[in-house]
Amino acid sequence: MTKRKGIILAGGTGSRLHPVTLGVSKQLLPIYDKPMIYYPISVLMLGGIRDIAIITTPEDATQFKRMLGDGTQWGLSFTWLEQPSPDGLAQAYLLAEDFLDGAPSAMVLGDNIFFGHGLPELLHAADAQGTGGTVFGYQVADPERYGVLDLAPDGSARGIIEKPQVAPSPYAVTGLYYLDGTASERARAVTPSARGELEITSLLEMYLEDGLLSVQRMGRGFAWLDTGTHESLLDAGNFVRTLEMRQGLQTGCPEEIAYAQGWIDQGMLLESAERFSKNGYGAYLRGLV
Ligand code: DAU
Repeated sequence: MTKRKGIILAGGTGSRLHPVTLGVSKQLLPIYDKPMIYYPISVLMLGGIRDIAIITTPEDATQFKRMLGDGTQWGLSFTWLEQPSPDGLAQAYLLAEDFLDGAPSAMVLGDNIFFGHGLPELLHAADAQGTGGTVFGYQVADPERYGVLDLAPDGSARGIIEKPQVAPSPYAVTGLYYLDGTASERARAVTPSARGELEITSLLEMYLEDGLLSVQRMGRGFAWLDTGTHESLLDAGNFVRTLEMRQGLQTGCPEEIAYAQGWIDQGMLLESAERFSKNGYGAYLRGLV
């Protein structure tokens, strides 16, 4: 088992989705039949990670805890941390410094959804890297909306630019960051950007400058879905619906992953199924036995 710890950053104001997110955290909104945060949790689980800190706003913490508990139902351990104001993605490594205690980490943004054949293998390869970090580049039609990779002619990364006016490549840096045990220490040296945030790209640049950042491409067989606008949120839900209706398989189902990994036994799976006995999710879980 990996000693890498997980972080899910699920704070922020969700202002782009107002008024929907005035009373509820964005990461608790549904993506078709499951809360958004189930999907990033599933990603960490597919990467073999069981010790996970979830960072929320102080206002939303109670709702998250009510939904997710302490993680034992999925063979996980959740540590709850709070971010008082959205001061930037790199701040997560400061908030989680004690939790990480020098361990390598995988951080995923609570609103990022990944799907694709071979995802566990990609994650395990990133996990196997000792020193340094790994980020995942994904080709998008609108890279200006993200952190974007500046690539050298040989395909290696020479820079990452946050929301450039003119994108140096079509490759966005996804919200999944595998960093070694120096991340918190490095994050302390990040200074606020012009928009007043501790930018994740500044932290990644530090790894890059030391020649310690590896970039993996997520190819066209993967889906990396955005949930930042009303349209993309609906699209993501429809994507999941299409897959699930066609295959009869769940995507982003923590119980299923936990059971497959041997982290929960049949009895625990059936207990979860019982909780949802009145709907199709419960029937699906029962069918896994
Ligand atoms: O989704 C990938 C992109 O995420 C990367 O390509 C960018 O490099 C990275 O900066 C980030 O860009 P966004 O514009 O999507 O960041 P946003 O401010 O929307 O925050 C992403 C999520 O993290 C969102 O659900 C809110 C949450 N968040 C954000 C900040 C700044 C926090 O929980 N705390 C924060 O301090």
